[in-house]
Formats: sequence, structure tokens, C-alpha cells
Amino acid sequence: MKSLLFSRFLLLLPWVLIVIIVLDIDSSRAPLPALAPRGGGGGGGSGSGGARPAAGRAAAPRRPEAALPTIYAITPTYSRPVQKAELTRLANTFRQVARLHWILVEDAAARSDLVSRFVAGAGLPCTHLHVPTPRRYKRPGLPRATEQRNAGLAWLRQRHQHLPPPQPGVLFFADDDNTYSLELFQEMRTTRKVSVWPVGLVGGRRYERPVVENGKVVGWYTGWRADRPFAIDMAGFAVSLQVILSHPKAVFKRRGSQPGMQESDFLKQITTVEELEPKANNCTKVLVWHTRTEKVNLANEPKYHLDTVSIEV
Ligand SMILES: *[C@@H]1O[C@H](CO)[C@@H](O)[C@H](O)[C@H]1NC(C)=O
Repeated sequence: MKSLLFSRFLLLLPWVLIVIIVLDIDSSRAPLPALAPRGGGGGGGSGSGGARPAAGRAAAPRRPEAALPTIYAITPTYSRPVQKAELTRLANTFRQVARLHWILVEDAAARSDLVSRFVAGAGLPCTHLHVPTPRRYKRPGLPRATEQRNAGLAWLRQRHQHLPPPQPGVLFFADDDNTYSLELFQEMRTTRKVSVWPVGLVGGRRYERPVVENGKVVGWYTGWRADRPFAIDMAGFAVSLQVILSHPKAVFKRRGSQPGMQESDFLKQITTVEELEPKANNCTKVLVWHTRTEKVNLANEPKYHLDTVSIEV
């Protein structure tokens, strides 16, 4: 009798131990999901990770991203030898930003295979649009990417017109050759109406910036036409979705817009200098650079296809 009980006890003991160990592991794991990276992965998946400070992470509640405004990045792009390289660089940055939705607008009559394939494997939420620039506007000295930026704006307005109240969101224009610090996204995410910050390597200077006094923009440090109402580069501002939706007619204009006046003409339609919100430590930090990729040398490229395979570059 005694030995029977003992053998049953021995039989049960390992199972009891296993249950105890599993419960223990479970409880020590409990706080982890909030820290673990989310989603990500394949084409069009949700964004993962975040450009948020480490301190914010530790203290974050369970669903820290639920209240985060979505950042919409509108990127005009066109076919050229460095296109895929530039887009790859940009995607590698954007993939690290939580809740970023990338709106890629091709200057083309149809979506290209190259960009379609790229978008499918980009690993972040993307919208792929296209609109060709009319031939008459394809001249040096005329502003570029006007139609593409407007197509991005139109998509954004259409997507949200049936969704009152609008989800919190922030829009910025992300040209595909610039370089973006992850800190920039933390800064722009809190945009209430229109926010501004310095831009590096632009306008023939090391940087341009809004001049800030007592937390307000009072002028512009720039090497070119400081008399523009908003003497700022395309990479130097963000606009809240709310403002975009409440000014449905605000677009980039061809008519009457001189080269280099695009930004100023657009901002005039939606805000005033007094309203601007200075970011990046009262506009004293450069978090985005207007980098230019050197034109590639294809001098030895054969006129007709010589290789045995066809390779996308
Ligand atoms: C910007 O300047 C204002 C006014 O001087 C000040 O109250 C505010 O703390 C400054 N912001 C930052 C981030 O330094």
C-alpha cells in the first residue's frame, strides 16, 4: 500500500514540477510583450519598432502605439539609375519608425515594375501612386514633383473624407535623396498644426533654419531670398492631417509659382508664420540633410544588352 502511494507520488512529481516551471516562466514573461518589437515582416505589413526614446519604452503602457499619430511620408520618385538605391536607403530608415505610412508617387504614366516590386518587399505600410508630369513642365528652371506631391495630398484627403473624426496624423514631404535622423520623426509626431525645423546642406549653406525667439518663429536664416514668407526647404516642415483636411484646396501650384517658391506658396495657404511650431530644440538642431547623390558614371555601359541575364539595378 505504502509503496503504491509512493510510486504514484513519484509519477506525479515530474508533472507538478513542469507545471510550476511553466507558470513561473509565464509570469516572468508577462511584461515582455510591451517591449517586444511588433509586426513588421513582409510586404505591406505593419510597421515595427519605433523611433522612440528608450525611457519612453520602459514606462510605456501595453498599447503604446495606439495613440501615436500616423506619420504620412509623401515621396515623389522617378526612374533613374540610382532610384532603387535611394528608395532602399529611405525604406531602411522608415522601417524603424513606428506608425509610418509611406506614399510613393511615381512620375510615370503607369506603375513601374521596379517600384511595384520594391513596395511589395519594403516591409512597411506603403501606398504606390503614379502621375506623369506633363511634358511642358519638364524643363530646367521649373519646379519639380508638383503633380506627384499633389497626388499624394489628394490620396490622403480621399482616404480620410469618410472617416470623421480624422485619425491623428502628420504629413511631411520626404524627397528620396535626403537623409533623415530617426529623431526627426519623434519631433514631427507631436505637430499640432504646422511644425518647422532646420535643414542641413541646403541653399548653398551648411544649414538653413527658422530663427526662433521666445519659442516663436520670427525670421529665416537662409542664403537665398530671405524675403519669402516661408523661406524653408521642402524637408523642413510637417503638417497635421487635420490641417490638410480642413484646407481641402491647398495644393502645390504650377501657375504663378516661381522656382523655389513652392514651399512658401503651399504654406501660405494653410498657416501663418506666427502659428509655426519650432521643433528640434527651438530650431537649433539639424536632423535632416538635403543630400545629393552624385550622378553615376555609366560611360562603359554597353549600348545593347550584352550580359546573359537581365538584372534589375
Ligand atoms: C524654446 O524656447 C522657449 C522660450 O524661450 C522655452 O520656453 C522652451 O522651453 C524652449 N524649448 C526647448 C525645447 O528648448
